[in-house]
Amino acid sequence: MHINPKLIKKQFEKSFGKYNKNALVQKSMAEKLIFSLTQIKNDFNTILELGCGTGLLTEQAVNTLHFENYYANDIVEKSNIYISKILENYTFLCGNAQKIKPAKKTDLIISNAMFQWLGNLTQIAQHLHIISNPSGLLAFSTFLPDNYKEIRDLTGLSLDYKTIGQIKQELIGYFEIIYHEEYCQTLTFSNPLELLAHIKNTGVNALSNKHMTFLEVKEFCDKYKEKYPQITLTYNPAIIIAKKI
Ligand SMILES: C[S@@+](CC[C@H](N)C(=O)[O-])C[C@H]1O[C@@H](n2cnc3c(N)ncnc32)[C@H](O)[C@@H]1O
Repeated sequence: MHINPKLIKKQFEKSFGKYNKNALVQKSMAEKLIFSLTQIKNDFNTILELGCGTGLLTEQAVNTLHFENYYANDIVEKSNIYISKILENYTFLCGNAQKIKPAKKTDLIISNAMFQWLGNLTQIAQHLHIISNPSGLLAFSTFLPDNYKEIRDLTGLSLDYKTIGQIKQELIGYFEIIYHEEYCQTLTFSNPLELLAHIKNTGVNALSNKHMTFLEVKEFCDKYKEKYPQITLTYNPAIIIAKKI
C-alpha cells in the first residue's frame, strides 16, 4: 500500500479532536513502552519524540522520565497546541520525522504508534543514528501483521505491517534491538458503523483518500456482521527498544 505523507497529514489533523477518546490501544502501548523503557533506563539528557500527535506518549514520558531537553516532532503543526498543554520547556520540530534535525544530539528517541507510517525503516534508522549520541536508545511501538486483520480480510486494504524479524533486519547496522514484546488486543463495537468511526477518529483512514459510497458502506457493514458477528477489531502492537550500534 502506497504511503502518502500529504494524506497522512490531512487525515491525522482531522482526527486530532476525537483521537484521545478513541485511541485506547495506543494509550496502552504508550504505557507499556514507558514501563519497559524504565526497566532499562529512565534518566536522559536529551529526548526526541517523533510523531507526538495529541501527546499520549508525551504525557507518560514527562510523568515518568527524567530529562534536561525535550524535542517534540509531528508532521501536523496543530500537534504543538496539545504538547504546549503538557510541557513547558520544549522545542517543537514540525515536519517529516525522517528529516528533522534537533540542535542537540539525542540520548533517547521515542515514538508511539507512528513507525508503521514510515515504510522501509532503513532510511530513518540511518538518519536517527546520525542524530543520536553513542549508546543512544530508540524506543518505539508499532503494529505487526495481524493488526486490523478483519479489515484486511474483508477489503484487502492494509498497511505493509512488518514482523519483528523484518524490523530487526531494517535496523541492522544502525540499531540493535535489546527488548521486544508483542501482543494482541481486541476491541468490540455495537455495530460496523461505530467501528468505521473508530478507525476514522484514530487517523487510520490515512491509508486511502477514497470515500465509500452509501452502497459500499452498506455492503461493508453486511459482510462485517456476517463474518464477525461480535464486531471485533484486532490490534497487534509491538514494543521495541533498540540501542545505537
Ligand atoms: C497514531 S498517531 C500517534 C500519536 C501519538 N504518538 C500517540 O501516542 O498517540 C501518529 C502520529 O504520527 C504523525 N506522523 C505520521 N507520519 C509522520 C511522519 N513521517 N513524521 C512525523 N509525524 C508523522 C501523525 O501526524 C500522528 O500525529
